[in-house]
Amino acid sequence: MAKYFLTTPIYYINGLPHIGSAYTSIAADVLARYHRQQGTEVLFSTGTDENSQKTVEAAEVTKQEVGPYTDEMAANWQKTWDSLGISYNRFIRTTEPDHIASVQAFIERVEKAGDFYKDEYEGLYCVGCEEFKSEAELVDGKCPLHNPVPEKRKEENYFFRLSKYQDALLKHIEAHPEFIQPAGRRNEVLAFIKRGLNDFSVSRKGRHWGIPWPGDNDQTIYVWFDALTNYLTVAGFPNEGFEKWWPADLHLIGKDISKFHAIYWPAMLLSAGLPLPKTVFAHGFFTVDGKKMSKSLGNAIDPVEAAGKYGVDALRYFLLWEIPFGQDGDFNHSRFEQVYNSDLANELGNGVQRVASMIVRYLGGTIGDVNSAAHDTGAVRQAIEDFRLDKALEEIWVHVKGVNQFIEEEKPWELAKSDKEQLLKVLQQAVSDLLHIAELLMPFVPATAQRIAKTFEGGEVHTEVGILFPKLDTPAKGK
Ligand code: MSP
Repeated sequence: MAKYFLTTPIYYINGLPHIGSAYTSIAADVLARYHRQQGTEVLFSTGTDENSQKTVEAAEVTKQEVGPYTDEMAANWQKTWDSLGISYNRFIRTTEPDHIASVQAFIERVEKAGDFYKDEYEGLYCVGCEEFKSEAELVDGKCPLHNPVPEKRKEENYFFRLSKYQDALLKHIEAHPEFIQPAGRRNEVLAFIKRGLNDFSVSRKGRHWGIPWPGDNDQTIYVWFDALTNYLTVAGFPNEGFEKWWPADLHLIGKDISKFHAIYWPAMLLSAGLPLPKTVFAHGFFTVDGKKMSKSLGNAIDPVEAAGKYGVDALRYFLLWEIPFGQDGDFNHSRFEQVYNSDLANELGNGVQRVASMIVRYLGGTIGDVNSAAHDTGAVRQAIEDFRLDKALEEIWVHVKGVNQFIEEEKPWELAKSDKEQLLKVLQQAVSDLLHIAELLMPFVPATAQRIAKTFEGGEVHTEVGILFPKLDTPAKGK
């Protein structure tokens, strides 16, 4: 049986999920559901990155002990993903015993390869990114992504020989165009490597939170080194049989962390003598109503609140439709309402509703056996396999519009008076098309797909399913 292992990043728990993190998890969920639908055995992981200094600081702010704070936040993240229908198989927490064992086993392999050494380092550290920054990466002395000015730190740490893997990485990336996607990200990564790779420090001294460095209790493992290894933990490393799932087929990430996934992680794996993931796909970042999303601006959208207001599927649809997958985009509130009304309430919801009520009115609610003969799914499948989730939805909407147009042209309300046989044929065709659409929609809007299938189940119309997308009280405009 074919298998597919895909991952989301594991998220920091110094705050609650926002719409940006939900975006990655939703997109990954679409791919997981799509592959399952193809009959593939899927392992889909997500989780929380807990051994960061940020966790300690956030716990202090809430006047909680780090342990209970961590448990509470991880439970919140997991609950959020559950409420958005994220069909993960493993929710991994980096404080779990199997992960700690996996990181320690991984460190031993790299140690054996001779790729660690101790050195003293002085530099500017951004806690937001959890990394040392070079002067060139700072804008006006500050990290472009995070607010507090980076701190000067001087420590004796273990270092990883990243520089040793520069050529091997270049070769791998050049030989495997599918390894880093989309192509723009790949070019950025190649340019970064060609500027020369520096070794990086992989431990921190005198910290009480984090995984201890094997054999040196003074040092804890650098949070990125620990976090990246989560992907191996999920596969079952270092236990027997982890090769069933490793290497991963896909690490889906945001573009902010592509250096870690496309440079550090593959170099770490090369050092440990383990195969590299097949693809790292970095999607873009989005702004909210044209502005960078941030706590200080107070414009971070709570995905649970948005799903409560519009429905989970409407949120999933909008995020994936609106932002070309792989590019940057904007989450605009009034656009959301327009798209909801035009695509979901009018085109899809009304389309289903109309066909169902005509079957009730003209055929007493019975449609009989519907021919589910071959429908062409090629374009949608191709778009998903090319990571063009927005394009896949566009293709599905060609079918949605097609059903509405078919009804307009065939005019069942006239056939009801003149040609009952043709009427039955037309409505059966419409139901067949809608069931096909439901199948195509399943990875994207699973609950809606199920409700459409339920509406026409067993050759009868089930009016109890109700309206799919109640219209919002705003003027509807086209796309
Ligand atoms: N803990 C690390 C990842 C370790 S993976 C081994 C981390 N966590 S994070 O909580 O900061 O999550 C970052 C991810 O959230 C991004 O890579 C991206 O997937 C998602 N996003 C956060 N803000 C976003 C936007 N504004 N837009 C799109 N995605 C965003 O980094």
